[in-house]
Parts: sequence; structure tokens; C-alpha cells
Amino acid sequence: METDGNGSMEESRSKLLLYLKLAFLAMEPSNCLLSLAIEAGGGCITQQVQNFIVKECFAKNMKETTMNNQAYIKGILKKVIANVESSSVCAEDCLYEELAHYLTIGGPPEENNIIYREISFLSSDLDGKDCSNSVNLVAALRCSSNMLEGDTGCSLWPSSLFLSEVILSHPEMFSNKSCFEVGSGVGLVGIALSHVGASKVTLTDGDMSSLANMKANLELNKLCLDVASDPMHPCAQKVECRHLAWELASKAELQDQRPDIVLGADIIYNPECIPDLVRVFSILLDNDSFGEDKREAPSAYIATVIRNLDTFNYFLTVAGKSMLSVVDVTAKTQVPNLLPYMRSYDRSSVHLLRVSLLSE
Ligand SMILES: C[S@@+](CC[C@H](N)C(=O)[O-])C[C@H]1O[C@@H](n2cnc3c(N)ncnc32)[C@H](O)[C@@H]1O
Repeated sequence: METDGNGSMEESRSKLLLYLKLAFLAMEPSNCLLSLAIEAGGGCITQQVQNFIVKECFAKNMKETTMNNQAYIKGILKKVIANVESSSVCAEDCLYEELAHYLTIGGPPEENNIIYREISFLSSDLDGKDCSNSVNLVAALRCSSNMLEGDTGCSLWPSSLFLSEVILSHPEMFSNKSCFEVGSGVGLVGIALSHVGASKVTLTDGDMSSLANMKANLELNKLCLDVASDPMHPCAQKVECRHLAWELASKAELQDQRPDIVLGADIIYNPECIPDLVRVFSILLDNDSFGEDKREAPSAYIATVIRNLDTFNYFLTVAGKSMLSVVDVTAKTQVPNLLPYMRSYDRSSVHLLRVSLLSE
């Protein structure tokens, strides 16, 4: 019995240490990291946890970093040291050495707000109910710490984390399907779609700086932007990034796409854009315009946080008038938590909507 107890305690400690490392790489807020470090130490940041932080966490494990990443690490180190010094635990020398290192190499934070984050999605258990301890996908993302940069498209939003969890836990719904996303922002959903083997991935955004940042992210994740020009390219899959402003998109341009699945994360928030957004969905989901060359009716998934109920209801009204059926499928879609270490991510606030065009 005792061995079992110790064994499972050891197991949960190593799980918490893994979460701590992944939370560092995802650049979770300092309060979330401190609480994970305290939990991993069983109530305080033990010497073992301090050593783990210095050896296993931090930017030296990341593909890319900026001065802003280093400023973040300095801030975290200072908080860990303050916490340890105010407790009865001895502070390890390596914490001070690491802080001194970052103080000497790093200058002030850069003004461009660029940070690199690594979002690690864990695998779900066979029953799909819970996540295991193995990492299924790591998405390296160049993001802005300013939420409004690039018309909000340069930072990462909870809805795209949730939509990526849906894709990774239901790969059969997306593999071998042609997928088209609107308002893609940093491009995380496209990385998840490529990972599960979508036959074609098209990512779009109306903001040019978000589009440039999205392309940088696809390259960072070794996804090909254009294999058409190089048929011998070893990368089998093409991810296309297109400029698509909902208000400017022509009917012909949208009809040319013919996706099997349309996706969107956190795109219902500006009432002024809603009529154009609904028009884009209506055209992309219309199966009738293809004459004899018919295919299975496309469907759409939108992940959204309802920030303003009036705006959301306005979306439902405009969608209804355009013969779009919008069903909240959050409760009936089993989506295991693949990001249990991201304590700042409130997945309960995200809804999954299934959208389809009603036939007349
Ligand atoms: C809140 S962000 C969400 C980004 C990303 N989907 C995510 O969840 O992380 C909204 C995105 O929609 C894009 N967007 C907003 N209005 C748009 C419009 N009229 N046409 C095209 N894209 C638009 C923005 O540029 C931005 O990338």
C-alpha cells in the first residue's frame, strides 16, 4: 500500500514538474507559474523544484527568443527568489547565478512587443476523457504581448486554443478534408489542422501585419507555404495564407475555394463586421453553386467567447436571415483538456458552434 501511495505521489509530482516546464515555455503569467512551482514542491518551492526550474525551464529550451522573453524570465526568477527567501526553504545558488546571467545578457524589453511562446498539446488518453503525460504537438508561435496589435490578430486567443483541442482530439473530422479558416491570426489552428492531416489548409486574415506574422509562424513550424512551385519539396502538405477581408471578398473568390470545412476562432466580436462575416460563411457553405459537380455539404465550426450578448444575438439574427443554422455543440462534443498546465486559459468560457446552410 505504502509503495503504491509513494508511487502515485511521485507520478503526480513528475506530472506537475512537466506542467511547470510547459507553462514556462508557453509564457504563462507569473502567478500561474508560482502556484504550479509551489504545488510541484508539495506546498513550497523546494530545492528540487528550484533546480528543475533552472535546468529544465526558460528560454534556452526554445527555438527562438527575444529580449522580451528574457525580460519575462528575469521577472519570474525575481518572483521565485522572493518567494523562496520568504519561506523556510534554502535558496539554491543556481537561482542567483541564473538571474545574474539574465541581468548581464539582457537589455530592456523591446518596444515591438514580440514574444515567442511554445504551446504544447498533450495527447489524450485512449478513452479520450483526459490527457496523458506525453506531448502530441508543440506549436512555436511568434506573438505580440499587445492584445490589440495587428487588429488583435498578432496575439493568441482562448478560442483558437479550444478549436485546436477540438481538432487534435477529433482528427477523423478533419483529416483528408480541405479546411478554410477565416480570421486566422497567429495561425495556431492551421498548425493543428496540418498535424492531423487535413488535405488542404487555407488560412486567411484581413490584417496585413497579422498575415505576415502568420506566415512567419508557419515557417517556424516547418510548414510549407507554397509547394506548388516546387513539386519535389519533401513537405507533403501545403498551407496557404491569403489576405481575405470579409467586407472586400468577392462572391467568385469565395466560390473558388470549395472547402469541406470552414473554421473560425474568436471572430464574432465586432457588430460592424457581422453582416460581412455572415455573407462570407453563406457563400463558402453554399453547395448549390457548383451545378453538377456537387459534393457533400460543407460545414463550419466557430469557437467563440461570448463577450457581449447583444453582439452574439445580433450574429444569430443575421445568420438566421441568411438561412444559416447555428447550433451550440459545446456540451455534446467531448473535448479533453490537452492544456492542463495553462492555468490562465479558461476553456469553460469558450463555445463551439456548428454552422451549416439550411436548404430551401
Ligand atoms: C480576436 S482575433 C482572433 C485570432 C485567432 N483566430 C485566434 O483566435 O487566436 C480576430 C481576428 O479576426 C481578424 N479580423 C477581424 N475583422 C476582420 C475582417 N473584417 N476581415 C478579415 N479578418 C478580420 C483579425 O485580423 C484577427 O486576426
